[in-house]
Amino acid sequence: MADELHISNTENRLTLYTELLPQLQALTSGEQNLTANLANISAALKQTFGFFWVGFYIVDENELILGPFQGDIACTRIAKGRGVCGTAWSEKKTQLVDDVDAFPGHIACSSASRSEVVVPIIINGHVAAVLDVDSDQLADFSKDDVLGLEAICEWVASLM
Ligand code: SME
Repeated sequence: MADELHISNTENRLTLYTELLPQLQALTSGEQNLTANLANISAALKQTFGFFWVGFYIVDENELILGPFQGDIACTRIAKGRGVCGTAWSEKKTQLVDDVDAFPGHIACSSASRSEVVVPIIINGHVAAVLDVDSDQLADFSKDDVLGLEAICEWVASLM
C-alpha cells in the first residue's frame, strides 16, 4: 500500500483526478474490507481537493445509510428519491447542483453547504451506493468534477 499521496501542486482538477485514480487503486489493492477502502478513498479525496464534505452513502434495502466520510457529522439515513443523494439513486444519474437552496428537497446536513455533486455507484444496473461531495462555495463543481468522480465511482463499483 502507498504510504502517502503524490499529487501535483495545481488547481487543475482534471489533472488531480487523473493523478489520484491509480493511487487510489494502489492504496486499496490487496485489501478486501469495504469499510477500510471507502474510508481511505474519502480521506484521499479530502486530502487532494480539500472538499468541505466527502463521503459515501450505502444502499440498504429502501434507504441510503451513511458510510465512511470526511467532514462534519451528517444525516445517517436518506430515503430513495429524497434530497440530492436520494435523487441520484432513484434516477441512477449524477446530480450536479450549483445552488443547493434551489434544489427541491435538498437535505441540509450542514447549513454551510452551498453546492454539491452526487455520483451513483452502479453494479449490474443497480445503485449500490452514492458518493456525495459538498462545498461551502456556490457552483464549486464543474463537468471536470463529474468526469473525475464518475471515473472513480466506476472503479469503486469493482470493490463492492
Ligand atoms: N445534502 C445531501 C444530504 C447528505 S449531506 O449533504 C452530507 C442531500 O440532499 O442528499
